[in-house]
Amino acid sequence: MTMAALKAQNVAQLSYQGKTIDLPVCFGTDGPGVLDLQGLYSATGLFTFDPGYTSTASCRSEITYIDGAKGILLYRGYPIQQLAEKSDFMEVAYLLLYGDLPTSVQKDEFIQTINNHTLVHEQVSSFFRGFRRDAHPMAIMVGVVGALSSFYHDSLDIQDPAQRHIAALRLIAKMPTLAGMAYKYSIGQPFVYPQSHLSYSENFLNMMFSTPTTPYVINPLWAKAIDRILILHADHEQNASTSTIRLAGSSGANPFACIAAGIAALWGPAHGGANEAVLGMLEEIGHVDRIPEFIGRAKDKNDPFRLMGFGHRVYKSYDPRASVLRETCYEILGEAGVKDNQMLQLAMELERIAMADEYFIEKKLYPNVDFYSGIIFKAMGIPVTMFTVLFAIARTVGWISQWKEMIADPMQKIGRPRQLYVGKAYRDFIPMEKRLEESQ
Ligand code: SDX
Repeated sequence: MTMAALKAQNVAQLSYQGKTIDLPVCFGTDGPGVLDLQGLYSATGLFTFDPGYTSTASCRSEITYIDGAKGILLYRGYPIQQLAEKSDFMEVAYLLLYGDLPTSVQKDEFIQTINNHTLVHEQVSSFFRGFRRDAHPMAIMVGVVGALSSFYHDSLDIQDPAQRHIAALRLIAKMPTLAGMAYKYSIGQPFVYPQSHLSYSENFLNMMFSTPTTPYVINPLWAKAIDRILILHADHEQNASTSTIRLAGSSGANPFACIAAGIAALWGPAHGGANEAVLGMLEEIGHVDRIPEFIGRAKDKNDPFRLMGFGHRVYKSYDPRASVLRETCYEILGEAGVKDNQMLQLAMELERIAMADEYFIEKKLYPNVDFYSGIIFKAMGIPVTMFTVLFAIARTVGWISQWKEMIADPMQKIGRPRQLYVGKAYRDFIPMEKRLEESQ
C-alpha cells in the first residue's frame, strides 16, 4: 500500500533578510508534527543545522512509534508490553513486515517459509575459516552477511517487489544460523544445522549450545526469554543503525549489503554494543561499595566514562522495554537458582542509586533496554561478545521492514545531507620552495 502524500495542516512563517516564507506544518497519526523544509534552501539559500538529528525527521514511517516522555513504544500501533506478554517473535516479525497481526493460517505459512530459508549455502562456512578464532562475532557478522549478496543474485534487484520480499525472508531466516556459526567457530566446535521442528528461539539456542556428542535439552524458559528479548529489540524508529540501513538503501545498495552496514552501526557501545559494555562496566565496578565512585565519574564532565545502559536520545522516562526485561531478568535468574547473583544485585543497587541521584534525575537518564539484556544473556551462558549479535538478529526484522518501506515510498530519494563549511576560504596552490617561508 503506497503512503499518501504529506498534507499540510498548518503553516509556520520564517522571516529572513526582509523576506517571509511559509513553511507547511504536517502532522502524522501521533507525536510531534513536522516543518516541511524541502523548499527551504531554494527559498532562502539556507540549510538547517542539526548534528545528531535531534530535531530532524528523516522520513515518514508507519512501522514504529515512540513517545519518549510517556515511555510508549508501539509496533504498528500495538503496545510493546502487550506484544511481549501475548505474542511471539515470529508473529511480531510478520506484524512489522506486513502491517497487521497474522491469522493462524498466515502465521503457519510465514513460519514454514522462514524455516525453508534457515540454511546458508555450504560455501558460506569457508568464509569463517578466514577469521581468527578470537574475532569478535560482530566482525564476522558484518563480513558474512554482506557476503550473502554473492549467493543470491535472484534477489538483488531492489526495484522488484518479489525480490525485495524473498531477500527480507532470507535475511530474517539466516541471521540465527550465521550467529550460531560465529559462536561455534570461536570455540572450535562443529557448526550445528537449523532444525525446522524447533521454534526460532529454540533453533538459536540449539545452534549455539548443542554438540554432536550430547543431546541438548532446550530450556523452555530460556527459549521464552530469548523470544521476548527478540520482540523487545525488533524495531525502534530511526535509531542510528536503522538510519544507516535507510541511507545505504537509498543509494540502491542490495539488502544484504544494507543489513551488513546496519550491523556495523549497531556494534558501537553508544548503541547496540551497550549491552556488552554494561557487563564490562559491572565487572569493572566489581562491588556495591564502588558504585558511588563510578556514579561520580559518570557525572564528571572531564571523564569520558558514561553509565552504560543508562540514558536515551528519545526516552526521557523509563524505557518500556527495560521494564519488561527487568521482570524477565528476575525470572531467569530465579529459575537458574542464582537469586543471589552478585551481578544482578550490583545492577539493582546501581539502578537504585543512579535513579535517586540528582544528576540522573535532572538529565532524565533512566535504564534503557541494554541495561538488563546482558545480565539475562550471561545467566544463560551466552558469551558477552554474542550479546550485540542477538540484538542484530532481532533488529534485522525492523531494519528490513524499514528498508522495504523506504524503497516503496514515492517520496524517497538518495540521502545526501549538506553541511556548514567552516574550513579555509579559497586559496591558490603554494609551490614547495615557497612553503617554508609561508609557514614561518
Ligand atoms: C540503544 O536510538 C535508539 O532507539 C537506540 C536503541 C534502539 O533500540 O535502537 O534504543 C538502543 O542504543 C540504547 C542506548 C544504549 N547506549 C547506552 O546505554 C550508552 C550510554 N548512554 C549514552 O551514551 C547516551 O545516553 C546515549 C547515546 C544513549 C544518548 O545520548 P544523547 O541523546 O545524545 O544524549 P547526550 O549524549 O546529549 O546526553 C545528554 C546529557 C549529557 O550531559 P550534558 O552534555 O547535557 O551536560 O546527559 C549525559 C551527557 O553527558 N549523559 C550521560 C549518560 N547519557 C547521557 N551521563 C552519564 N551516563 C550516561 N549514560
